[in-house]
Amino acid sequence: MKAIVFTRYGPPDVLRLAEVDTPRPGATEVLIKVHASSVSTADWRIRASAFPGILWLPGRLMMGLFRPRNPIPGVDFAGEVTGTGEAVTRFAPGDRVFGFKGHGGNAEYLVMDQDAAIVPMPEGMGYRAAAALPFGGLSALVFMRDIARVTPGMEVLVLGASGGVGIYAVQIAHAMGAKVTGVCSAANAPLVRDHGAAEVIDYQKDDATRPGRFFDVVFDTVGAATFAQARRVLRRSGAFVPLNFKGREMVQSLVAKLTGGPRLVIAVSGDTAADLQELSQMVNTGRLRAVIDRTYPLARVPEAHGYVQMRRRRGAVIVDVIAGGDTGASVTAAR
Ligand SMILES: NC(=O)c1ccc[n+]([C@@H]2O[C@H](COP(=O)([O-])OP(=O)(O)OC[C@H]3O[C@@H](n4cnc5c(N)ncnc54)[C@H](OP(=O)(O)O)[C@@H]3O)[C@@H](O)[C@H]2O)c1
Repeated sequence: MKAIVFTRYGPPDVLRLAEVDTPRPGATEVLIKVHASSVSTADWRIRASAFPGILWLPGRLMMGLFRPRNPIPGVDFAGEVTGTGEAVTRFAPGDRVFGFKGHGGNAEYLVMDQDAAIVPMPEGMGYRAAAALPFGGLSALVFMRDIARVTPGMEVLVLGASGGVGIYAVQIAHAMGAKVTGVCSAANAPLVRDHGAAEVIDYQKDDATRPGRFFDVVFDTVGAATFAQARRVLRRSGAFVPLNFKGREMVQSLVAKLTGGPRLVIAVSGDTAADLQELSQMVNTGRLRAVIDRTYPLARVPEAHGYVQMRRRRGAVIVDVIAGGDTGASVTAAR
C-alpha cells in the first residue's frame, strides 16, 4: 500500500511517499481502508520532535527516543472497514468509521483494535468531514467538559478560536450553554462568530486580557497568555486552562492551589470511543460542525505539514488518501 513515512525527526522533507506492507488485522482488530486523514498539530510536533518545554523527554520516550517509533504519521482517519479479525464483534466489512489512532492515518490502510477510539461515522457525513473531527474535537470536548468543567451560563474566553482545537472549543462550550468570546484575527472573526461565539476580539487590535472583562474560563490554545495576564480577567473561582504548558505553569498551578483564587489547570487530552461517540451525537443533533481549511492529496503531506506548522490554519487540514474524497453534511469549508 502507499503511505507517508518518516524514519527520522526533522523538517517536513523527512516525510516521503513510499510503498509499504499492508497491515493485517489481529484477532480483535479491524482493517480500515482509509479514505481521508488529516495533518494536525500533533503530527507536525511529532515529526519535528517539537515537544514543548519539559515535555521534550517524555515526548521522545513515548514517540521514540532516537527515531520515530511509528513511521507512518496521521493521527486522524475516516474510512471503511474491509476486514476483521476472528474475534471482532463490533464492526463488519462495509462499516463507515472514523477515529483517532495517534499515527498511521496517512496510509491507504490501517488496523485498529475494535475497542480503541473508533466509531461509526455520523449520519450523512463524508469522509473528509469525519477526518476533520477527532484531534480537535476530542481535545476540545475533554478540555471544556472535564478540565474546565464548563456549565450553562459560564463565560468562556477561547484564545486561538479559529484553530484546530479552538474552533471546536467554541462550538462545544456554546453547546454546553456558555457565553463564548473568541480571540482570533479579524479575517477569522466571521467564522468564529458563525460557530457560536457571542463576541470576537481581534488580538491585533485589542488585548483580550485587559482588566475590566470577566470570565470563568480562559482557554488558551496558542500560548498567547501568561497566568498573570489570564488572572486579570478571571473571576475568583475561575480557571486558566493552557493547552501548552512548561515547568513554569506546573509550578504556578501548585502555588495557585495553595494560595486560592483563580486556578491554573494543566492536563492532556484523551482519546476514547465514548468521547468520539459524543462528538458524533453532537454532529447528528446539529450542535457541532466539522471545519475544513484545506485538503491535500496523500503525496503532498509534506507541504501540508509546512502549512499547519505556520499556525494560521482554520479548523482541520485534510489529506485525501483516496482522490476526490467526499465531504458530506455538517461541515464548514473555511476557505
Ligand atoms: N495538552 C493537550 O492535551 C493538547 C491537546 C491538543 C493540542 N495541544 C496543543 O495545543 C495547541 C493548539 O493546537 P491547535 O492545533 O489548535 O493550533 P493551531 O491550529 O495551529 O492554531 C492556529 C490558530 O491560532 C490562531 N492564533 C495564532 N496566534 C494567535 C494569537 N496570538 N491569539 C489568538 N489566536 C491566534 C490562528 O488564528 P489567526 O490566523 O486568526 O491568527 C489560527 O487559526 C498546540 O500547541 C498543541 O500541541 C495540547
